[in-house]
Amino acid sequence: MSQPQKIRRPSVTASDPPTTIPIPSNPRGLVESAFSATSPTQHLSTSPGAAGSFGGRSLKAFGSARQLHAFLPATFPAFPEEEGTATPRAGKIKILLLENISLEAAQFLKNAGYEVDHSTKAFSEQELLDKLPAYHAVGIRSKTKITAKVIEKCTQLLAIGCFCIGTNQVDLATAAKHGIAVFNSPFSNSRSVAELVISEIIALSRQLVDRASEMRAGIWNKVSKACWEVRGKTLGIVGYGHIGSQLSVLAESFGMNVIYYDVVPIMPLGTARQVDTLEHLLQTADFVTLHVPEIPDTIGMMGPAEFAQMKEGAFLINNARGKVVDLPALADALESRHLAGAAVDVFPKEPGSNGPGFSEDLGDFIPRLRKLPNLIMTPHIGGSTEEAQRAIGNEVANALSRFLNYGTSIGAVNFPEVDLRAITADDSRHIRVCYVHRNEPGVLRAINAILANHNIEKQFSDSKGDVAYLMADISGVGHEEVREIYEAINGTRANILTRLLY
Ligand SMILES: NC(=O)c1ccc[n+]([C@@H]2O[C@H](COP(=O)([O-])OP(=O)(O)OC[C@H]3O[C@@H](n4cnc5c(N)ncnc54)[C@H](O)[C@@H]3O)[C@@H](O)[C@H]2O)c1
Repeated sequence: MSQPQKIRRPSVTASDPPTTIPIPSNPRGLVESAFSATSPTQHLSTSPGAAGSFGGRSLKAFGSARQLHAFLPATFPAFPEEEGTATPRAGKIKILLLENISLEAAQFLKNAGYEVDHSTKAFSEQELLDKLPAYHAVGIRSKTKITAKVIEKCTQLLAIGCFCIGTNQVDLATAAKHGIAVFNSPFSNSRSVAELVISEIIALSRQLVDRASEMRAGIWNKVSKACWEVRGKTLGIVGYGHIGSQLSVLAESFGMNVIYYDVVPIMPLGTARQVDTLEHLLQTADFVTLHVPEIPDTIGMMGPAEFAQMKEGAFLINNARGKVVDLPALADALESRHLAGAAVDVFPKEPGSNGPGFSEDLGDFIPRLRKLPNLIMTPHIGGSTEEAQRAIGNEVANALSRFLNYGTSIGAVNFPEVDLRAITADDSRHIRVCYVHRNEPGVLRAINAILANHNIEKQFSDSKGDVAYLMADISGVGHEEVREIYEAINGTRANILTRLLY
């Protein structure tokens, strides 16, 4: 049998009075779905599958949700600087937002009742070690690195919000082992990418970028040969997910025929049609656009054989991930005029900062690409719009708030995704157990023994690797019993982090 790990959070002693931290301020218990009444982003998520719904359920289910409070023992958190001092926590959940995260997101979190500190800059590891232990949640973008050392030091951290797409800047496994959920916003910029692709389809078919750069060089070159309308042409979308499906709708409104290839059967939007093979799509489409993730199956999915299958004079667009396309093979296909043009927004290696740097250091094919006509190259800007930034702020702030207030981990990247129907105003003696524990045998038996005298109204548990997360709503719990339940669960062998919401 493995040795129980040291429990990181201190347990209460009999003399400690329970401390309640009131969250949230929203009286209906409903996460406000937008920053302001005038915000253009009025729904919880911008992803097509999730808009207007929450964890697959209607928002209506939350209409009479009860405001929950977190039970935290008086010693929580007992990081060394504050031991023995009068409670400095003042009953507030504290959130630190770094790297100039949208002020609207900060305001949203403030309105939700949290104490929010906002900084325009990224923090170094030392700054994080000095300051982050005072916070329960942190919002970052890509520059602040949340390392294992930082996580170990921040004993009261509950959640990390990455207000961006990537999460490489966080030690995800260590965060999960400490019960800290990490959220990001992978789909908030789908619309921005889809719109860029539409602009590229037209720009390629009219050789727009070449004409515009000729004019800058003082050359008047009025041509119509090999310039086309997009109406009636066939767009082949590879990967019909968040971006691919949005694009499908936009392209049809331009009069294009849309076919798509995806590894899973997906219901078509409008009059689009799913085809069975990539080969079929490549042989049929005038424009091929890639919207797949970068996974082993998709790395190099467009190579010499695939370019040869494309129609003569067709166009390729890659706004997905750099390694999906074999760029030397693309250069061959363009140099031989088999393809009439291409748009590339993503590269296998990209410069770390703005400025000169798009050079052969990133690959010896780069100088070849830079010379090719009707090749539109952009610096990974597919999702870079003001609207996407705002949507990211909205989505991540909502995710943080839902996790802190209700224990919902839907959307967490490092953590089992668990959610429960809301506790309603009628359920006055219900409490919610949020129990992060090591994924090992016998845990449910131990929990059921602790809760044996109560009715478990609903519970859901899931695991991801070594970490599991159980949410359970228990009825008929008196205020005086909360501490006892907390102590018993917090003292279980597999405990990582216990929170009770009531
Ligand atoms: N250029 C940018 O700035 C930018 C911005 C956002 C997203 N992206 C990238 O765009 C891509 C698509 O993003 P999304 O949000 O639409 O993803 P998504 O997960 O919603 O959709 C991806 C789709 O690809 C399908 N797929 C997976 N493997 C496949 C294969 N081998 N063949 C065909 N289909 C396959 C999946 O089934 C899914 O339907 C991702 O690579 C993402 O990283 C780029």
